[in-house]
Amino acid sequence: MQASLDNEVQRLYHKLHPLGWSRDDCELIAPTTLEINTLKHQQNAVILAHSYQTPDIMYGVGDYVGDSYGLSVQATEHPAQKIIFCSVYFMGETAKLLNPGKQVLVPRVAGCSLADSISGAQVRALRREHPQAGVVCYVNTYAEVKAESDACCTSANAVEVVEAMPQDEILFIPDRLMGLNLDKISSKTIRTWDGTCIVHEGFNVDSVHDIRRRFPGVKILAHPECTPGLVAEVDYAGGTSGMLNYVRNSEAHTFMLVTECGLTDRFKAEFRDKEIVGTCILCPYMKEIQLDDVLKALKDPAPEQFIEIPADIAHRARASLDRMFELEREGRAILAERGTGALPWTA
Ligand code: 13P
Ligand code: SF4
Repeated sequence: MQASLDNEVQRLYHKLHPLGWSRDDCELIAPTTLEINTLKHQQNAVILAHSYQTPDIMYGVGDYVGDSYGLSVQATEHPAQKIIFCSVYFMGETAKLLNPGKQVLVPRVAGCSLADSISGAQVRALRREHPQAGVVCYVNTYAEVKAESDACCTSANAVEVVEAMPQDEILFIPDRLMGLNLDKISSKTIRTWDGTCIVHEGFNVDSVHDIRRRFPGVKILAHPECTPGLVAEVDYAGGTSGMLNYVRNSEAHTFMLVTECGLTDRFKAEFRDKEIVGTCILCPYMKEIQLDDVLKALKDPAPEQFIEIPADIAHRARASLDRMFELEREGRAILAERGTGALPWTA
C-alpha cells in the first residue's frame, strides 16, 4: 500500500512540479487521487477533464483533457460505460446527449454565466418575436435551449453553421460578444442575446497592447467570447483546442493566452520549451470542482450528480447537435465555393 502511495506521489510530482507544485503538495492529494484512480478502474469509468480544470484534476485523475465538445465525442469512442465529466453542468449534458446509453456524472452541478443567461421558454419567446429568423445556439447552453434551437455550434464551427443556415437572419444565442465577432465575418444578419462569459468579457485590449510592447515577437491568442475590439488585435482567435493546435504548430517561443487560467496551466505543463506570459482570469464555476467531489461521484454519488435529461428534450437537443454536423459540412463547401475557405475569427 505504502509502495503504491509512494509511486502515486512520484507520478503526481512528475506531472505537477513544472506548475510549481512541491512534493508536500503532491503528498497531500496522493491518497485521494490514488483512491479515485483505483475506483475508476474497478468501475470501468472514464474521467474527462476540461482544460479549465485545476492541474490536480487534469493530471491527477483525468484520462482525457480537452475542450468541451471534443471530450464528449471522445467519450462515444471509449468503451467505458460510466463517464465522470469534470467541468460545468452543460458540458456533462452534452456528453449525455452524445452517449445516451452510458451513465454520465458530474462532480458538482456547476453553472456558467452563458448557459445560465437563457432558458428554453426565452428561446420560444424570441422565435415568436422573430419568426423569419433561424436560431443557432452556442454549445454553452443547457439541453432545454438546444432543444428549442435549429442548430447548435461550437467556437470551431460557428461560421460554417451560420453560413449554411437557410435563413438570412440568424438569432445567435446566448453569447452577445461571440455573436458580434460572428457578425464581422458572416454574410448573414446576426441578432444577439445579452449573455456573456464573465471570464472572457473581463479582458481588456490595453493588456494586449501592453504585452506586445513588453514581449516583442509574442503571439497573442484569444477566445472568441472576448470583445470584438480585443479579437481584432490578436494573432489568433479560437476555442481552447484551436489555441492548443496553434501553439503546437507555431515556431514562436512566447505566447499570451487571453482565456481562463486552466489553459495557461495546461500549456505550461505540456509545452515546457515555450514561455507563457501575461495574466489569466479564473472561472469560478469551473473551479468549484474539487477532488473530493470526483471521489464522491465514484464512491457514493448523490442523485444530482447523475445527468438525466427528459426524453423529449434529449431527442430535440440531440437533433440540434446532429444538425450542426450537417451544416458544418455544407458551410465548409459554401465558403470554399466563395473562395473564402475557413474564415478565422480574427479576419
Ligand atoms: P471550449 O469549447 O473551447 O472548450 O471552451 C469552453 C468554455 O467554457 C469557454 O469559455
Ligand atoms: Fe462559462 Fe465562461 Fe466559465 Fe466557460 S469560462 S464555463 S463560458 S463562465
